[in-house]
Amino acid sequence: MGLTSSKPQNILSGPRGPAHRDAYALVTGATSGIGRDLAHELCSRGLNIIVHGRDSTRLEVLLKELRAQHPACDVKGFVLDAATAFNASGEATEEARRAIASVGGLKIKVLVNNVGMGHNPAKDFIAFTEQTPAQVATIIQVNISFMTFLTHALLPGMQEHAAAGDPSFIINAGSLADLGLPWVSVYSGAKAYIAGFSKGLDSELKGEGQHVEVISALIGDTDSDGHKVGTSLFTPASKDMARMIIDSAAGSGPVVRAPYWGHRFQMWLCSIQPYRLLQKGMIYNVAALREKNGLVTKKQV
Ligand SMILES: NC(=O)c1ccc[n+]([C@@H]2O[C@H](COP(=O)([O-])OP(=O)(O)OC[C@H]3O[C@@H](n4cnc5c(N)ncnc54)[C@H](OP(=O)(O)O)[C@@H]3O)[C@@H](O)[C@H]2O)c1
Repeated sequence: MGLTSSKPQNILSGPRGPAHRDAYALVTGATSGIGRDLAHELCSRGLNIIVHGRDSTRLEVLLKELRAQHPACDVKGFVLDAATAFNASGEATEEARRAIASVGGLKIKVLVNNVGMGHNPAKDFIAFTEQTPAQVATIIQVNISFMTFLTHALLPGMQEHAAAGDPSFIINAGSLADLGLPWVSVYSGAKAYIAGFSKGLDSELKGEGQHVEVISALIGDTDSDGHKVGTSLFTPASKDMARMIIDSAAGSGPVVRAPYWGHRFQMWLCSIQPYRLLQKGMIYNVAALREKNGLVTKKQV
């Protein structure tokens, strides 16, 4: 894991200038948590914004908030349930087709695949076999399928609007959970997919001479609406995390990068341990979290 090494000027750097006039960033899962803060952060760097959510009332509140706080930016949004937007064959539902068409003609320079679920410590840390197949499928749909097929639909337009020295960006919300956390195994696996997909796609685009940067932001514990754990040295607030994600993406570094130094330090500590020791630590810590949240129904260790 490398540190961000330089600060090239690009569409993410801000402030708003002529290059931002017709340029949009699209943030999925923007109605709460890190996604909402990412939308504000991108607007404050001059980008026009398209926000996505599943709840029309929450989306309306967000649209109003963004318009009031960033009057220079054009603000759009669409409602779509990420769990059902694409079927098992990857086909978009009629509603998803309409939503994508409504933004497809815009100059999307930044796609932030932020939407995610399955990491709420108050309810999601449960045994694999205690989850129904439908619950497992929803985690896969929301965390993997939606970002994959949305990227597939929007990438050709993003390639068109990218040039040498003026790249487009795909920023994917990865997680330190891709180490393989117990009692959130499907979520952990989904985040590992995001890291692998991001690396593969970035290499492919570079191999084809395309100017689209793909980044998987490795996020560790962050205090957000869906992950209310309080802030501490190793747990930043979602607003700070959002700023660090965009700072990190605006700079250079490996495809998979942890924007926060505290999370990089945790990753380093994990990397120097023998795996079995690390595994014991993960079991101990997650078991304690489950007990604290009243999620233990069986003896695990
Ligand atoms: N917070 C952390 O500690 C942490 C750590 C590692 C990685 N991450 C990743 O960072 C991203 C953001 O996390 P967060 O903590 O900010 O999450 P959050 O507070 O729970 O917010 C998730 C967002 O996704 C939306 N969403 C969830 N399911 C959806 C669906 N089926 N269709 C459409 N929208 C849906 C939510 O909508 P509603 O407003 O309607 O709920 C919300 O806007 C996720 O990908 C997460 O996996 C977070």
